[in-house]
Amino acid sequence: MKGILLAGGNGTRLYPLTRATNKHLMSIYDKPMIFYPLSTLMLAGIKEIALISSPKYLPLYKELLGDGKQLGISLTYIEQEKPEGIAQAFLLAEEFIGNDTVCLTLGDNIFYGDGFSKLLKECATLDKGGIVFGYHVNDPERYGVVDFDKKGNVIDIQEKPSIPKSNYAVPGIYFYDNSIIEISKSLKPSERGELEITDVNLAYLHRGELQVKIFGRGSAWLDTGTPESLLDASNFVGTLEKRQGNKIACLEEIAYKMGFISLDMLVQNISKMPKGEYKNYLVQLLESEQTNLVLATTV
Ligand code: G1P
Repeated sequence: MKGILLAGGNGTRLYPLTRATNKHLMSIYDKPMIFYPLSTLMLAGIKEIALISSPKYLPLYKELLGDGKQLGISLTYIEQEKPEGIAQAFLLAEEFIGNDTVCLTLGDNIFYGDGFSKLLKECATLDKGGIVFGYHVNDPERYGVVDFDKKGNVIDIQEKPSIPKSNYAVPGIYFYDNSIIEISKSLKPSERGELEITDVNLAYLHRGELQVKIFGRGSAWLDTGTPESLLDASNFVGTLEKRQGNKIACLEEIAYKMGFISLDMLVQNISKMPKGEYKNYLVQLLESEQTNLVLATTV
């Protein structure tokens, strides 16, 4: 399965924060926003990832993440001249996707919860149809909204309905088989001039090939497109990290724990970091891993 990180858009709701830089580079507590959705794809076990953004900002992402080798992944950068909806990503990434299945996640969506990585890994084994999620929110009218019948079957999904049929919003992470290419090519722009991801999901639904899995109330889905939601996400991450002493979306840790990089590569990554709290965290991880290795070889 290939992965797509969509980091486009103008981030107008964050102006003037986004006057000189891209939204997905804003900080969420102690890391750039893009680390969080990238970690989501890595936790799904996806190693071939394309990052889509405007030509103006792609150089910044290249500087931040390089070719991905240091994380044991391969990063491809794709230009989006003009944002024309989420589903445009599949057209821009057609060659990158090739004959594979694909998971797309939005650069401003953060997911967190026990059992979440297991769920992602299961979804990444998809071979037919599509998988999206439903998450109970207070303000469904801001999102794609799932409509269920009395038996709990999904009968419709509506994009930003003024009168939502349920409180279940569709978060910005989508798994599709290779028909995504053909489906995206058949889409027409909506009234707001976008190729809507909701229309993609409806196409799968009408073929009887869409699974909607519910993210339970013990999990967190945050989007970070406004100053308030940016602050909420930072506070959420900060609260958990301070309490647990574990970092969320520490890419080097995930790369190591997923088996994408060796302990030697982790050491190399750490040696290039400036002194500070992020480096200290990884040094601690390294020391405990080295102790574990010594223990394993002496038993
Ligand atoms: C987009 C999608 C919507 C989805 C949301 C998740 O909304 O169109 O279906 O629920 O992302 O963040 P937009 O970012 O265009 O407001």
